[in-house]
Amino acid sequence: MVSAHLRLTAALPLLSSAVEAVTFKGQTIAVGENTYYVPPKVVTTLQVGEGLAHGDDLVPLTVFRSDARNLSTAAVRDLVNLYESTDDVFSTAFLQNIYITYNGSHNTPLLDISPPSSWKTKFLGHAAAYSPKTATNSTTDIAPGPYFLDTTTGAVHEAYRLYSDVMGSFTQGLIATGNNTYDVLPSSLQGYESLTIGVPSRLYSTRTATKPLAGVRLGVKDLYDIKGVKTGCGNRAYYDLYAAANTTAPSIQSLIDAGAVIVGKMKTSQFANGETATADWVDYHSPFNARGDGYQDPSSSSSGPGSGIGAYAWLDLAVGSDTGGSIRNPAQVNGCFGNRPSFDLVSLDGVMPMSPALDTAGFLTRDAKLWQAASEVLYAPAGLKSYSKYPRSIRTIDFPTDASTEANRVLLAFLHKLKTFLGNATVSPLDYDALWEDTKPHTVPEDTTLTSLLNLTYGILITKQQFPRIGAKLYDDYAAANNGRRPFIDPVPLSRWNWGLSYPDSQLDIELANKEVFKAWWNSTVQVFDEETCADSLVLYVGTAGTPTYRNVYRDIPGIPLGFSSARISNMAGVPDMVVPVGQARYNSTITLREEYLPVAVDIIAPHGCDLMVFSLVNELVERGIVGEPGTGSVMYPRATGDERIYY
Ligand SMILES: *[C@@H]1O[C@H](CO)[C@@H](O)[C@H](O)[C@H]1NC(C)=O
Ligand SMILES: *[C@@H]1O[C@H](CO)[C@@H](O)[C@H](O)[C@H]1NC(C)=O
Ligand SMILES: *[C@@H]1O[C@H](CO)[C@@H](O)[C@H](O)[C@H]1NC(C)=O
Ligand SMILES: *[C@@H]1O[C@H](CO)[C@@H](O)[C@H](O)[C@H]1NC(C)=O
Ligand SMILES: *[C@@H]1O[C@H](CO)[C@@H](O)[C@H](O)[C@H]1NC(C)=O
Ligand SMILES: *[C@@H]1O[C@H](CO)[C@@H](O)[C@H](O)[C@H]1NC(C)=O
Ligand SMILES: *[C@@H]1O[C@H](CO)[C@@H](O)[C@H](O)[C@H]1NC(C)=O
Ligand SMILES: *[C@@H]1O[C@H](CO)[C@@H](O)[C@H](O)[C@H]1NC(C)=O
Ligand SMILES: *[C@@H]1O[C@H](CO)[C@@H](O)[C@H](O)[C@H]1NC(C)=O
Repeated sequence: MVSAHLRLTAALPLLSSAVEAVTFKGQTIAVGENTYYVPPKVVTTLQVGEGLAHGDDLVPLTVFRSDARNLSTAAVRDLVNLYESTDDVFSTAFLQNIYITYNGSHNTPLLDISPPSSWKTKFLGHAAAYSPKTATNSTTDIAPGPYFLDTTTGAVHEAYRLYSDVMGSFTQGLIATGNNTYDVLPSSLQGYESLTIGVPSRLYSTRTATKPLAGVRLGVKDLYDIKGVKTGCGNRAYYDLYAAANTTAPSIQSLIDAGAVIVGKMKTSQFANGETATADWVDYHSPFNARGDGYQDPSSSSSGPGSGIGAYAWLDLAVGSDTGGSIRNPAQVNGCFGNRPSFDLVSLDGVMPMSPALDTAGFLTRDAKLWQAASEVLYAPAGLKSYSKYPRSIRTIDFPTDASTEANRVLLAFLHKLKTFLGNATVSPLDYDALWEDTKPHTVPEDTTLTSLLNLTYGILITKQQFPRIGAKLYDDYAAANNGRRPFIDPVPLSRWNWGLSYPDSQLDIELANKEVFKAWWNSTVQVFDEETCADSLVLYVGTAGTPTYRNVYRDIPGIPLGFSSARISNMAGVPDMVVPVGQARYNSTITLREEYLPVAVDIIAPHGCDLMVFSLVNELVERGIVGEPGTGSVMYPRATGDERIYY
């Protein structure tokens, strides 16, 4: 042994003088049934008492926090119940070692605790690590919750519970490494082609006015830059070619600054184009939609965010982007809230462009309050006005008129409740094609229909604006790095780009002008601003009526998105369009051979800048039980199954 050491020492000077940095990336620890990631960062150092066996390396620890002057066993038991019911990271296995911080104002707080034997508590705070007096020392003033304690040094580390991304919603699990930089989570669980995602204890953070998103677990669509991490945009060549982002997109940074915790990047269909599972997803596999039989298309392009929010109770919020329905469609079919905001509310620097004339950033979530809170943070630069009074007119596009199907009954029941809630609002159908014929501007030729005016607009905008920014640059950069080779592009973006290239560049100006014609007509004639309620009316259309779109179907080759429909109104007019899940409807699954439930959702359109009015409205509808917040998994509203309560 000694001679081996000597030889090694002697060899050292011959090695390169450059010393490679050694980075400790944390540890992975199983406690009971669960596995945790333990970041290297030390949150505090405790003076460990004699009651603790040294040399165990990291042991689970629960930090209690209480301002009770006389902290009794019963009070601690109450805290355990609270921690268990509000946090999925905490478990009673962390009671093996406990530490109590007193945050009250009394000089001589009392402790009178004898932990139940079922907790198996080994270390009931010896002296320093236990005495409430010591605990008031600011260096040990840490948030309550589960931790890992280094028994040799007293170092305390946070605990991130690990989950397997069984739905394929993510592209990478992420962890903050300090300095606003992120790294790939270095832990892995069992799981067939499944990534591992780590989430911090919910007990570490408290939402406040300055940190309204404290501890919110956030997934980010993989077309937003996050410092330290590569942005992939759903294309393998792109991911491989470009370096990790050196700054975080300002939109995402504002959420981080408000306390959100980024847990991972989530899948996008390629370059945010509309792709259908499974045929169109060549470079990567489409995420799974948890609803119904589990083999429905999750839609696109914010497929990962929709899939994850529909499936994982441990994920609170996801950021998507919407150019032509990319937040709304996944929100509809994965059964959650989702918003395309008013156009141009927030910087899209550091975000992959599809069409700068149409691109927006918005959220998908099951929690209506969080939806509003996150939007107030993200859209703060726009200084949107709040409203607590609502329009007394509802205009419906293609709503059902008979209650012949379960989905129709859900939609009509919602409409009726909304009308009543709005103080017997008037409800009238909106036939925008007919209205256009009566009121179209004199500047367009007599025979112009909405469909002929806007037939090419969306297709030209997304291809003529995306190709030079993304496609041409990727072709050049990839060729330069790969001996002139062309990178692989999925069939949908490739066929769209090539179609766009077949038009002269002047077509883009024509279509941008057509968009403005529609926008001016819409905001002056169809739905107009109102001082008191922001909108003269709410425009509603059916987001989804529980119709299955199976992912195991061979489909036609992708076409070009031509024409006009209700889903294009918000794109062309630059107005908000918000998806509200209103219930569920049964269908007979060809997969499971039994009845399953799929989401039913309504889209609400309002004038530009009225986003907060709709958020307030939806939150009031949730408070009154008119809209139910969906759960995760196959059935959105499990309480409602088995009886006729298929809607709220
Ligand atoms: C503290 O609470 C315990 C349990 O409720 C009680 O037995 C004890 O007398 C209390 N001590 C003081 C000083 O109030
Ligand atoms: C002490 O901490 C608990 C848990 O964090 C909190 O609920 C309570 O309000 C705090 N008390 C004081 C006096 O700050
Ligand atoms: C209290 O904090 C100081 C640093 O502010 C530290 O040096 C000291 O050891 C701490 N005392 C105890 C008893 O933990
Ligand atoms: C953070 O950045 C500063 C300045 O670049 C650097 O000195 C420091 O080491 C960094 N800290 C970490 C944890 O990376
Ligand atoms: C950050 O990356 C961009 C390219 O993505 C590059 O142009 C820029 O120089 C980089 N900045 C720094 C400080 O490295
Ligand atoms: C709405 O209509 C119902 C029945 O017609 C009536 O009883 C109720 O007072 C009306 N409410 C309002 C706010 O007008
Ligand atoms: C829309 O454009 C396509 C492709 O150019 C064309 O075939 C179709 O006739 C157009 N439809 C209308 C209504 O203009
Ligand atoms: C309506 O659209 C026109 C044309 O784009 C625009 O100039 C105007 O500012 C818009 N008005 C509102 C209230 O959005
Ligand atoms: C499913 O199929 C059964 C048997 O044919 C039928 O009775 C039932 O109404 C169907 N359910 C739906 C929602 O279509």
